[in-house]
Amino acid sequence: MGLNPRPILLSEPRPPLPPLEVTTLWDFPRQSVEGLRLGDSTYRGVTPALACVNVIRRFTNPGDLVVDPMCGSGTSLDAARFLARRALGFDLAPRRPDILPADARALPLPSACAHLVFVDSPYGDNVRYSDDPRCLGTLAATDDAFYDAVEAVAREAHRVLRPQGVLAWIISDAYRKHRFTPVGFRAYERLLRHFAPVDVVCLARRNDRSANPMWEHRARTRGFYLRGFKYLFLMRKEGSA
Ligand SMILES: C[S@@+](CC[C@H](N)C(=O)[O-])C[C@H]1O[C@@H](n2cnc3c(N)ncnc32)[C@H](O)[C@@H]1O
Repeated sequence: MGLNPRPILLSEPRPPLPPLEVTTLWDFPRQSVEGLRLGDSTYRGVTPALACVNVIRRFTNPGDLVVDPMCGSGTSLDAARFLARRALGFDLAPRRPDILPADARALPLPSACAHLVFVDSPYGDNVRYSDDPRCLGTLAATDDAFYDAVEAVAREAHRVLRPQGVLAWIISDAYRKHRFTPVGFRAYERLLRHFAPVDVVCLARRNDRSANPMWEHRARTRGFYLRGFKYLFLMRKEGSA
């Protein structure tokens, strides 16, 4: 477990990282840092690497364990390993040998082992990630079943986190078929049943497929807004460490 296909040797020259963010508005123009491959910037739904870097640097120490139960192209794993943390990633549709097949609601991990669980989940059925019927991306964000699944992932994250461990969860609202769904608020309400709030970050959305003149024209003429940000919920498992 934890095999790293691109080991980073300490003797390698390392691209400098920008300083840590100090406000709750994060806007990264590029998916990663110049000269550093963290995740796959061509993967639909890829996480901004500097979001992972900021969370990992702020809430963990070198050697701590970072777990991503919905790993996608592995951005959080790469960021964690770059920062000398241990990292384990899971996904229903693993894209690399170091990402293990598992349902985020039943991780093959002991309880209370992780210092940080990083999740960038589907936020409805707008992106098809795989044919697996267990994928949260098969559930419409208008239905309670989606939030039940979110809560089941949160419950499992709570199990694998150590007391005082941190949950970071990225999610977006949705506007589909002339209907706005406050996915973030609805998901947050479920997460609050298990975790104490730490903070909420607004993560600017860049390079979305809708960031083009056709969608901008539609938004202006048809009277709706394109999604400009995602939520990054920061929460803590209570209990004594
Ligand atoms: C938004 S993507 C994650 C992107 C990733 N952080 C990255 O930077 O590439 C969401 C991922 O959740 C996975 N997923 C959805 N439902 C899942 C489940 N029940 N268990 C595990 N993974 C799941 C999908 O296969 C997809 O890879």
